[in-house]
Amino acid sequence: MNTINQLFNIKYPIIQGGMIWCSGWKLASAVSNAGGLGLIGSGSMYPEILREQIKKCKQATNNPFGVNVPLLYPNIEEHIKIIIEEGVKIVFTSAGNPKTWTNHLKQHGITVVHVVSNVKFALKCQEAGVDAIVAEGFEAGGHNGKEETTTLVLIPLVKKAITIPLIAAGGIGSGNAMAAAFALGAKGVQIGSRFVTTEESSAHINFKNSILEAKEGDTQLSLKQLTPVRLLKNSFYEKVVELEKKCASVEELSNLLGRGRAKKGMFEGDLIEGELEIGQVSGGINKIQTVKAVIEELITEYNEVIKNMENNYL
Ligand SMILES: Cc1cc2nc3c(=O)[nH]c(=O)nc-3n(C[C@H](O)[C@H](O)[C@H](O)COP(=O)(O)O)c2cc1C
Repeated sequence: MNTINQLFNIKYPIIQGGMIWCSGWKLASAVSNAGGLGLIGSGSMYPEILREQIKKCKQATNNPFGVNVPLLYPNIEEHIKIIIEEGVKIVFTSAGNPKTWTNHLKQHGITVVHVVSNVKFALKCQEAGVDAIVAEGFEAGGHNGKEETTTLVLIPLVKKAITIPLIAAGGIGSGNAMAAAFALGAKGVQIGSRFVTTEESSAHINFKNSILEAKEGDTQLSLKQLTPVRLLKNSFYEKVVELEKKCASVEELSNLLGRGRAKKGMFEGDLIEGELEIGQVSGGINKIQTVKAVIEELITEYNEVIKNMENNYL
């Protein structure tokens, strides 16, 4: 049996990545109900909102689900406390040191996975005792590593370096890409962008429509001096580019970013002034679907491509 399916007790090794402003209980529970693993993205939630979201998710599915916790979040202690109190059994940590919380979470019987963008951190995760690793390539939506290592290159390198189960992320939006990730050594996939445009995602409809319109080349890794993030090119992105051309300081860039940009763009639908985080794979997303339809499509494509590859073998 697939080790990722076993680890989380799920039917398909498809994980919906935690995503600020997009992955609340509705999306997470829909993914879990469809046989994957849904994750609530706690990074955009105040502690009491997170508690409410977990409670709703528990009501909406009997299947396993988890919470993504970006470790740089200011209310981190409170978030961890709520996750434990609410009996959440799976936590995906990201954006921080895997050594800080892994032990504590595991002592409470929680399965811990950490997201990395390079081999060095993958090894650090393994040392910290995590149960699995997500290795995320440069193509991915959201905040990325500075190394710019693509998924195609990163997965085999991480696979070679570690012994614990590996989940691939970044640029996976089809069953074909899923098969490629498995061929490279991953046992599961974490998908973000493709789920942003599902009916159950809490992304604003304007943001969803702008993803459908996006073509190859319409995203760019930006704000490398602050925290690198892949942005859909819009007026806010152009302002970032202008400032960067002038060799702006970290402070100037922080001032431009200000507070609430991501909410403005992705949750409130301001396509001009908002920050729109999405992956390169947006160039291939062209319809709004239910989560169930997406997962069924991924599995059908995966099975077809595997069969065709066998037929075409040399
Ligand atoms: C809108 C958006 C928000 C995201 N927010 C988070 C987050 O809060 N925490 C995190 O660990 N990853 C975050 N990510 C990354 C996803 O969890 C996932 O790893 C990534 O999207 C995978 O690459 P893909 O977009 O090519 O599928 C975000 C991605 C997107 C598109």
